[in-house]
Amino acid sequence: MENRPIGVFDSGLGGLTVVKALKKILPNERILYFGDTARLPYGVKSRDLIIQYSIQIARFLIKNDAKMIIIACNTATAMALEILKNNFTHIPIIGVIEPGSVQASLDSKNKKIGVIGTVATINSKAYDTSLSLIDKEIQVFSKQCPLFVPFVEEGMVKGEAINLIVEHYLSSFKNKIDTMILGCTHYPILKPVIKDFVKNIKLVDSASAVANHAKSILIKKRQMSELECPNQIECFVTDLPRKFGKLGEIFLGEKINHPQLVDDF
Ligand code: DGL
Repeated sequence: MENRPIGVFDSGLGGLTVVKALKKILPNERILYFGDTARLPYGVKSRDLIIQYSIQIARFLIKNDAKMIIIACNTATAMALEILKNNFTHIPIIGVIEPGSVQASLDSKNKKIGVIGTVATINSKAYDTSLSLIDKEIQVFSKQCPLFVPFVEEGMVKGEAINLIVEHYLSSFKNKIDTMILGCTHYPILKPVIKDFVKNIKLVDSASAVANHAKSILIKKRQMSELECPNQIECFVTDLPRKFGKLGEIFLGEKINHPQLVDDF
């Protein structure tokens, strides 16, 4: 048994979609959440910078006693997962791309899968690689959607403006695919507007697949928490803690207790 917390990070609010799934599947775990709000978005930045940020955050989470790290960010998973695993060999570190790919391959009937994500994630071809390792016959259609993240971070998740952007990005998928991977942890927050537009395409987000994967690792390593009180989430952000707390509460569906500002890590 191991009551130390699970460390989770993203550039901002998006990773809370993974936290929500973790809470459901691992209700007794404590969670340390790190949102790098001062430096978001990650998806338009260079690989080197994203690696540098990811290493810095992993160090912070480990210093704060994390027993496992979940990279709740597709961009950081694509750029930095292997490097983090090599740098911090003493704790399990998991990303979101493989679990999402496995889920999509199970859901797709015609093996035509769409992937939407940030510029960095799509350019990395991480999903193409991961899906072809699962099944060589899968055809991947991908699209960068860089405006989705700022809309989510502003809380503009419904209305005319986001509808137009959804149409602009996603029109080309219609009648082409049967499954679409939401390859950015911010995108599940836009699920209702995306679903409304793509109608009969199955949407896959990796949140619950990642949470199940985390659970199986904790069971295998005998590191499940035995805390009586249900999970507590402690949030750290690099800018605007109040704004994070306010919007985060809406997306998480529960109160976030005083996100703490981290400025010297
Ligand atoms: N939520 C992140 C992802 O899954 C990063 C979005 C961003 O900061 O651009 O890719």
